[in-house]
Amino acid sequence: MSIQAALEHRRAIRQYDETRPLDSECVKHCLELATLAPTSSNMQLWEAYHVTDPTLLRHLGRAGFGQTALTSAPELVVFVVRPDYARRRAKANLAAQREAIRKAYPEEKWEKYTKRQETYYGKLVPFLYARCFGLVGLLRKALVQLVGLFTPVPRQVSEADYDVVLHKSCALVAQTFMLAMSEQGYDTCPLEGFDSWRVKRALHLPYAAQVSMIVSCGVRRADVPLGERSRIPFEEQYHRLG
Ligand SMILES: Cc1cc2nc3c(=O)[nH]c(=O)nc-3n(C[C@H](O)[C@H](O)[C@H](O)COP(=O)(O)O)c2cc1C
Repeated sequence: MSIQAALEHRRAIRQYDETRPLDSECVKHCLELATLAPTSSNMQLWEAYHVTDPTLLRHLGRAGFGQTALTSAPELVVFVVRPDYARRRAKANLAAQREAIRKAYPEEKWEKYTKRQETYYGKLVPFLYARCFGLVGLLRKALVQLVGLFTPVPRQVSEADYDVVLHKSCALVAQTFMLAMSEQGYDTCPLEGFDSWRVKRALHLPYAAQVSMIVSCGVRRADVPLGERSRIPFEEQYHRLG
């Protein structure tokens, strides 16, 4: 299937055919493909919980207000973001960059290029991703605004801004997963209509974890009409400059 065909096949499916099981290994493979999605600073601060257990599926269906997109699905994938992994991911990225530099460049360039990565993953990223509440958060914001008087800086540095950063990347991962599923002829529905506290409790997730999206998975019912895709005119969204 071409990318275009996979995009056209993908619809938000709310009624799955309960007589058509999924190949769980195929779902897992699609999740592996989803790791190819880009993430901000390559921080990969997401996790996927692939749920096949019937009891857990029932709990999640209830947490999702009983939506049929959840309750009729044979399997669910819960995408979660992990701000609490930022330090360890920054360290892992720095180690990977050090190795990549040694492989890609002659020895005389190593120090210069490694220093750059050390500044980025060793100082800037931990500074930006650190959870800073209250006064410390305000100080970080003030510092950025001050430096920003003299040079371009990343302006969105509050806790809430960094939640956006994480969920943005996670959404790209979820979309990559849904397209991979589509390419396999499987169906999905992305959902944010759920009680995140109940979802976290069902999955035994720690306080710091945030549920980004649930993607239900299955095979669409052939006898339930989907209806036309509804999209606003492209001209309202497309702005060509230059
Ligand atoms: C972030 C996000 C959250 C969504 N949440 C829900 C949801 O809770 N329940 C639902 O039935 N559909 C949900 N949808 C599906 C959208 O309603 C659907 O994608 C949209 O109507 C377009 O239809 P299409 O995907 O078939 O093109 C969600 C989609 C996105 C991207």
